[in-house]
Amino acid sequence: MDGFVIQGGLALEGKVKVHGAKNSILPVLAASLLNRSREPIRLVKVPDLHDVKAMLKILTRLGAVVTADGEDIILRTDQVDCFHIPEQLMREMRSSIFLMGPLLGRLGKASMCYPGGCAIGNRPIDLHLQGLQALGAIIEEKDGFINARGKLKGGEVYLSYPSVGATENLIMAGVLARGKTVIHNAAREPEIIDLQNFLNTIGAQVEGAGSSTVTVTGVPEVGGGCYRVYPDRIVAGTYMIAAVITGGTVTVEEIIPGHLEAVTGLLLEAGISVESGDNWITVHGGPARAVSRVEIYPYPGIPTDLQPPLMTMLSLARGKSLVVENVFPRRFRHVAGLNKMGARISLQGNRALIQGVTRLRGAAVEATDLRAGAALVLAGLAARGETVVYGRQYIERGYENLDLVLNSLGARVEPVTLSLQGLEAQHA
Ligand code: EPZ
Repeated sequence: MDGFVIQGGLALEGKVKVHGAKNSILPVLAASLLNRSREPIRLVKVPDLHDVKAMLKILTRLGAVVTADGEDIILRTDQVDCFHIPEQLMREMRSSIFLMGPLLGRLGKASMCYPGGCAIGNRPIDLHLQGLQALGAIIEEKDGFINARGKLKGGEVYLSYPSVGATENLIMAGVLARGKTVIHNAAREPEIIDLQNFLNTIGAQVEGAGSSTVTVTGVPEVGGGCYRVYPDRIVAGTYMIAAVITGGTVTVEEIIPGHLEAVTGLLLEAGISVESGDNWITVHGGPARAVSRVEIYPYPGIPTDLQPPLMTMLSLARGKSLVVENVFPRRFRHVAGLNKMGARISLQGNRALIQGVTRLRGAAVEATDLRAGAALVLAGLAARGETVVYGRQYIERGYENLDLVLNSLGARVEPVTLSLQGLEAQHA
């Protein structure tokens, strides 16, 4: 099993930059399928992540020509003619469901298996399918597969929940549809604005992203262009929390502080000193105060993707904190590992009650998903002794060179491939 071995107790000091946002680049890559022209799309400084590799594999399978130019990716999508996503590739990355919109828009057909659940929840896609049907798609579900077809036409879609993926899927479906599509109760995440900005760069007509109502005016064609996605706000927040729990001072540079307002507000409420400028945030670590109630909500609320790292921070805060997870109610798979390291967290439904402790102790723990893994690595940075976090492959889905970045701040994190039994013996 692949893991990280972490020596705890070292304060992080220094400056870091963060890579492009995983949750922006994935829908932007999917949206490239809308370009039938021979003009290439250049995506600048694409993060080197497992999920990006998985998405590029899918686009290649569909007929796109993918070329790397340094850290840039050049996409030629004029030869795209396949509308079926193989099950194995779909299973590798469940968010591929938002390929349905661009495939329907481009080819009038799309087929893929149900993405299935994962460690953070059963991940339904009903809002995606209902929305696409409202735009004229005919969707048949059989033996775990979804076959969609139809010439899309603009329409009004009312999302019962501001789903990020469903909003992105429907925006992309509306780009080449006949007429105007209006998405009500749309997700307001910055990644939606990123997608809008990319689409408008290649000739689409999208407006309203970032608000609850997004309007897409269908156009006959889109073309090529050059685009760079936002910095990853979740990775930035992860490094800010690392500063808090190790008692160091870290500046995260070339970011958009406005994307992290809720997180910065929470750190201030926890008594942490935070400074920010137009494209940087500096966090001065030190034991945080407990926060009596932390509500996780869609943007602009505190993001669910930082809930696990924030729970690591609150595990070491003075006093009792309550975290209420309102987005993925079962997203607590990191709690077992944190408690094994000495945290005192009890769960009740979508609520986690945390009694802060003064120290965590190193242990062998296992990541079950990307952000749970990040939370356990952070815990290892603060723990006494050595921690092994298994499941490095999950972490590498969304954090580029996490060990190199943390080590550049003074941490001691080493990627390893070891047997779980071997490490258990060491920690017995
Ligand atoms: C996106 O997932 C992100 N993934 C997630 O990041 C992120 O946690 C999530 O948005 C919330 O911000 C990508 O962008 C690739 P949702 P998504 O649809 O689109 C329910 C990470 O770690 N729902 O907003 O799947 C769903 O069950 C990942 O980077 C339905 O009920 O999130 C959940 O409770 C994890 N029906 C809630 O909405 C649907 O059809 C939020 O899901 C769709 C969603």
